[in-house]
Amino acid sequence: MSTLSRRSVLRGSGVVAAGAVVGYALTRRSDAASGTGATAAANAYGPAPAAGTSTPLAALADVPDGGGLVLGDEHVVLTRSGDEVRGFSATCTHQGCTVDGVADGRIGCPCHGSVFDAATGAVLRGPATDPLPPVAVSVVDGAVTRTGGG
Ligand code: FES
Repeated sequence: MSTLSRRSVLRGSGVVAAGAVVGYALTRRSDAASGTGATAAANAYGPAPAAGTSTPLAALADVPDGGGLVLGDEHVVLTRSGDEVRGFSATCTHQGCTVDGVADGRIGCPCHGSVFDAATGAVLRGPATDPLPPVAVSVVDGAVTRTGGG
């Protein structure tokens, strides 16, 4: 069994320290660190469109009147009453499950039974205590689009 000399340990730690400095410098220069990359806008609610832009989510005909549509990939739940469509985050505010359906004016979470108002996102039954955050949507030419703020 070999033993490490004091000199080899010091040399090894110098290499580790130099690597850490180089890694830190590269990280500081990357888009991810500066927040300018394409993924910087992604969050639990999906990427936000730039101000003044819109992103198609679904055809209006695919959103049941009096019900809604959960778009898991988009992290959005759409609810509809006639021509009025509203959007909310599909991520339950209790522990982050994706809500699973809209019926009778209510949005349900399958994990622990929270229920939210389909018109406002307000909590109708816990354990969630916070409403579903709104997502700005509009209907343009028969398509529901996510609209950017501003
Ligand atoms: Fe939705 Fe718990 S995560 S009720």
